[in-house]
Amino acid sequence: MTKIKLQHNRPECIGCAACAAVAPDFWEMTSDGSKSDIKHGKNLESGWQELEIEEKDFQANKDAADCCPVNVIHITDKEGKKIV
Ligand code: F3S
Repeated sequence: MTKIKLQHNRPECIGCAACAAVAPDFWEMTSDGSKSDIKHGKNLESGWQELEIEEKDFQANKDAADCCPVNVIHITDKEGKKIV
């Protein structure tokens, strides 16, 4: 199964919480509710987070991305090309 990459521009996240509501298997809010985190995501030095996901999990995360009012959720294919 092809792996794709889920990315979160966390510094720009405004804590809207739509992602955690729409895709709770992948997204959770911090305890103070100010930001979301990708569950089991890797924290990058830039402040972004990323996680490799299976293609079957694309739609749930695309739905989360579509709901995010500040467009900080992205998905790239295995070549690094942006899909969402
Ligand atoms: Fe942040 Fe967007 Fe989720 S603002 S909390 S990534 S819906």
